[in-house]
Amino acid sequence: MAIHSRHLLAIEGLHPPQIAAMLDLAESYVLLSRTGTTPRDRLRGRTLINLFFEDSTRTRTSFELAGKRLGADVINMPVATSSVNKGETLLDTASTLNAMNCDLLVIRHASSGAPALLARKVDAAVINAGDGTHEHPTQALLDALTIRRRLGGLQGLVVAICGDILHSRVARSNIHLLSAMGSRVRVVGPPTLIPPEAERLGIEVFHDMKAGLAGADVVMALRLQQERMTGGLVPSTREYFRFFGLDAEKLAYAKPQALVMHPGPMNRGVEIASRVADDPDRSVIREQVEMGVAVRMAVLDMLAHAGIPGGPRP
Ligand code: NCD
Repeated sequence: MAIHSRHLLAIEGLHPPQIAAMLDLAESYVLLSRTGTTPRDRLRGRTLINLFFEDSTRTRTSFELAGKRLGADVINMPVATSSVNKGETLLDTASTLNAMNCDLLVIRHASSGAPALLARKVDAAVINAGDGTHEHPTQALLDALTIRRRLGGLQGLVVAICGDILHSRVARSNIHLLSAMGSRVRVVGPPTLIPPEAERLGIEVFHDMKAGLAGADVVMALRLQQERMTGGLVPSTREYFRFFGLDAEKLAYAKPQALVMHPGPMNRGVEIASRVADDPDRSVIREQVEMGVAVRMAVLDMLAHAGIPGGPRP
């Protein structure tokens, strides 16, 4: 019997058929969303709680929309004004949520591992919407869906992930997903922003945009996460842009039709030039947002029913 995962805590550890199953279901939800014909009874009677301990606009809204398009009751817990700020521990919050019989719990937290901790304490299916610098699995799924729809697949593609890899849970989830699906992943950035474990993950490391982008099919720019930086990891944002900002000149090293991606929110003129971000021929940044809703619909649907199918046979 195949194993069905009950939570979505990370991409690491998922098997290619599980990733493919989520992308396939998401694909069908893209079309149904565009025609306004999503099945509103799919999650009827189910409760989804959004528990965001870190700021978020697009991810929280995306989960909310995804739940509503399938008919779930969606509640956004106002964490900033809740009893969490009165000193309640994460585990006390978990037992409160348990008593409310919620079915799906979406959590974003500044500490890596917080969603996994909650998953052990609640009956609900837990979805990690970003934990510290660890993982952001639905972001990697939406990126993969965007690439797959544009380029026809993931196998054999050269994907260059550029910038602040060190602080990026998006990069980590993408590295695991793309490697599992047969892409060749490169990370490109200054040595201070590349995590020491990069080489161990089996990816290529570049400190120069020209070499790192050469022949790439996909170029993914990441936000410079200054709020997570303690020391002076970059000299100045101007200097950073000069060497690592994705502008037309540096993009020219990649394949002529290479896709430009960014998970948002963007720092224009820091890690990406507006001209590139807004170039309708190259940038798929808006499409990523659309794919985000479809991917989250697929994840919510699977976890509310049998779980994520396609795990290894024991
Ligand atoms: C990312 C995140 O929060 O990890 N944003 C997102 O979910 N779209 C990336 C970032 O904050 O830079």
